[in-house]
Amino acid sequence: MASRLPDPGPDERAHSDRLLQLLRTQIASQGPMPFAQYMERCLYAPGLGYYSAGKTKFGEGGDFVTAPELGGLFAQCVVTAVQPVMAMLGEEADFLELGGGSGAFAEAALRAFVQAGTLPHRYLILEPSADLRERQRERLAAALPAELNARVAWLDRPPEQAWRGVLFANEVVDALPTTRFTLRAGEAYEEHVALDGEGRLMRTDRPADALVAGAVRHLERDLGRPFDDGYRSEVLPQLPYWMQAVAGSLEAGVMLFVDYGYVRREYYLPERHDGTLMAHYRHHAHNDPLHWPGLNDLTASVDFTALAEAGNSAGFGVAAYLPQAQFLLASGLQQAFEQAHAQATDDFARHRLAQEVRRLTLPEQMGERFQAMLFARGLDVLPLDAELLAADQGGRL
Ligand SMILES: C[S@@+](CC[C@H](N)C(=O)[O-])C[C@H]1O[C@@H](n2cnc3c(N)ncnc32)[C@H](O)[C@@H]1O
Repeated sequence: MASRLPDPGPDERAHSDRLLQLLRTQIASQGPMPFAQYMERCLYAPGLGYYSAGKTKFGEGGDFVTAPELGGLFAQCVVTAVQPVMAMLGEEADFLELGGGSGAFAEAALRAFVQAGTLPHRYLILEPSADLRERQRERLAAALPAELNARVAWLDRPPEQAWRGVLFANEVVDALPTTRFTLRAGEAYEEHVALDGEGRLMRTDRPADALVAGAVRHLERDLGRPFDDGYRSEVLPQLPYWMQAVAGSLEAGVMLFVDYGYVRREYYLPERHDGTLMAHYRHHAHNDPLHWPGLNDLTASVDFTALAEAGNSAGFGVAAYLPQAQFLLASGLQQAFEQAHAQATDDFARHRLAQEVRRLTLPEQMGERFQAMLFARGLDVLPLDAELLAADQGGRL
């Protein structure tokens, strides 16, 4: 699979080699590295990881395209969906975006908030990558008036003070470093990255520790069947702790997660016996996470049942769970499209808008592969649109 991929240029190779050197040194001194730690280094090692070094990543010139990169319609719909919550919470309500990417979502969302007449008190962006934070800052400074920029602030860590408002994350949970597990003679093993005799990276399995084994057993109990021997997949044992860390201080409001994934019994289908881990390099998807470390985006699909459990354990109830297409259609996509179409000045712009709607909603594009999950806490009434609540498929979780 990896042999069909485009070759990186000399700078990219040198960059990947520097990360490889770091990984080799660490593995040589500490022994095989759990896959989750390897993925964390590949994505976030300061100055070397995929998200922490200056690669294009997003959009047509990068490695993948996310919904906010397609245009402004996605952000407009998100704002339409959560605007009643912001309005109900009043002038002190904040909007917190996790993982701001290129800043495309923040730019379009802030414009949509202006149009809706409900500006967040603060527009906060929690972005672990210093490089992306800088790009977001530059983009917003160039695109938005100073009084809007004055509301934007970047956070190094989740808010510690209690706050009210909306937390939003598109394609962030899929980027959390994932644990890979497999089963041998009924016992859980955790995938590690080791070095072969010639110093090349290789994958190897070691008996799972109590946290990972417990997470695998929890899945089996919930699925009502043991995994077959040799079955391999991903799990995020740390998800409840992560959720508590990012959302614990949100005392009243709504969280919205959009990502690709499935409910648990679809995620862990017996035939999906090699998991959901994917690497993306210049719009080529492949399944070799050891190929050119640091140059590929690494992701795993989201087990939305696990996300719901994590939200529940942090004190939130699931308000709605539905495919992205239904979420957007129930959140004003048609009206947003018609308005933008009427304002478009040429055929190219109109064509792009039609393409944007197609990519956001067609089942085999993002429409059904991506899901939206809304959580709520501390609200006396749930001010979400009736159409949105009616489209809820939370019973499938
Ligand atoms: C696939 S990108 C998606 C970016 C953007 N949301 C979009 O849709 O274009 C993943 C983003 O999540 C960020 N990220 C990764 N781990 C995170 C975490 N623990 N908390 C907040 N953001 C995180 C990455 O730095 C990156 O900005």
